[in-house]
Amino acid sequence: MTQRKEEIANLMTREMGKPLAETRGDVQEGIDTAYYAASEGRRLFGHTVPSELRNKWAMSWRRPIGVCGLITPFNFPMAIPTWKMFPALTCGNAVILKPAEDVPHTATVLVEILLEAGLPPDVIQLVHGAGETVGKAIVEHPGIPLISFTGSTETGRSVGETCGRMHKRLSLEMGGKNAMLVMNDANLDLALDGVLWGAFGTTGQRCTATSRLVLQSKVHDAFLNRLTERVNTLRLGDGRAKGTDVGPMINAAAVTKAEQYVEIGQQEGARLVTGGRKAESRELKAGHFFEPTIFSGVKAGMRIEQEEIFGPVLSVVCVETVDEAFAVNNGVKYGLSSSVYTQDVNVAFRALNELDNGITYINAPTIGAEAHLSFGGVKQTGNGHREGGWEVYDFYSETKVGYVDFSGTLQRAQIDNY
Ligand code: UN1
Repeated sequence: MTQRKEEIANLMTREMGKPLAETRGDVQEGIDTAYYAASEGRRLFGHTVPSELRNKWAMSWRRPIGVCGLITPFNFPMAIPTWKMFPALTCGNAVILKPAEDVPHTATVLVEILLEAGLPPDVIQLVHGAGETVGKAIVEHPGIPLISFTGSTETGRSVGETCGRMHKRLSLEMGGKNAMLVMNDANLDLALDGVLWGAFGTTGQRCTATSRLVLQSKVHDAFLNRLTERVNTLRLGDGRAKGTDVGPMINAAAVTKAEQYVEIGQQEGARLVTGGRKAESRELKAGHFFEPTIFSGVKAGMRIEQEEIFGPVLSVVCVETVDEAFAVNNGVKYGLSSSVYTQDVNVAFRALNELDNGITYINAPTIGAEAHLSFGGVKQTGNGHREGGWEVYDFYSETKVGYVDFSGTLQRAQIDNY
């Protein structure tokens, strides 16, 4: 992966559009995940504990589960497959990978590399195709006891129904409606760089994207003005060209969805500050380019404040107090990531405690999780499992317990003669 990093970054940008700096980062995240998995393989600890009886040994260890069905999205064509595959393989399982139908090439190269590196071909199967056919067949197959799915909350629900019925182990990583809260005392230069990256990086197509900006009233007007100015300078274009800040969206359906939400926002009475359209310039109009978009005057409860758009659309909400900002953050069905900009240590620690998210950043945007800490969200973002970090090794392994009685007599546990 390291040797072919530049080649993979290039083909990934060609395949799904995000700029080269981001696709290089995506490959690097896969490499980091590989290093982490390689070391975690030495730490698949069990327990050896004293027995309640004499001359009896008691211990637990981990065993593989079987064939793991891994269904991954288009936005991190390298990183997310590795988040699932590497721990699954390290725990001794076999995997079937079904990448999103928009990104077959990157996944193919990843599997090629693993085979070249010496993994037995029997333990990795790569299957291409649509979710409704190939994904469904994997989820419904009785020989696949484990499913790990990253994608929309709607698809995740139907995956969950099937897995529940079939008693499969299931990890779901789904939507987000992540907020950045900028308090009156925030370092505004820092917050400005943060929101630009959080909202428009990967063209807003991340489950961790900053899709809501909650501004405390004293900084609202000035911050919104500065933000609008900066957003208007973002260069939309070919991710392989120098100077491109924001690439295209993944496909025509994604553009249509963004357009529909712009219409919904306007109908709800929010103010379209900038963007809101497919890019129409001569060089861009043939592609799926959507202008970075800001809505202000957004109220808690509006659909553009509640629903995941998965595009470069930022909804700005104005609040008076810290409590109100926290309530807006928590007032959605999702709970992946949040971010707070403040210089006040009490507000920072209150945020870590009180925000209902799997991840909270202080003075950094909502995106950018690291491979060695667990990744995932609360509420309808997930089903309680995590990717990354050591917890995922629990997900991909089964605990087995063994007892050895070397007393030479029948010692009965769970018997009380007194
Ligand atoms: C996703 O968008 O599905 O930390 C997950 C981040 C990314 C998350 C990718 N690595 O923002």
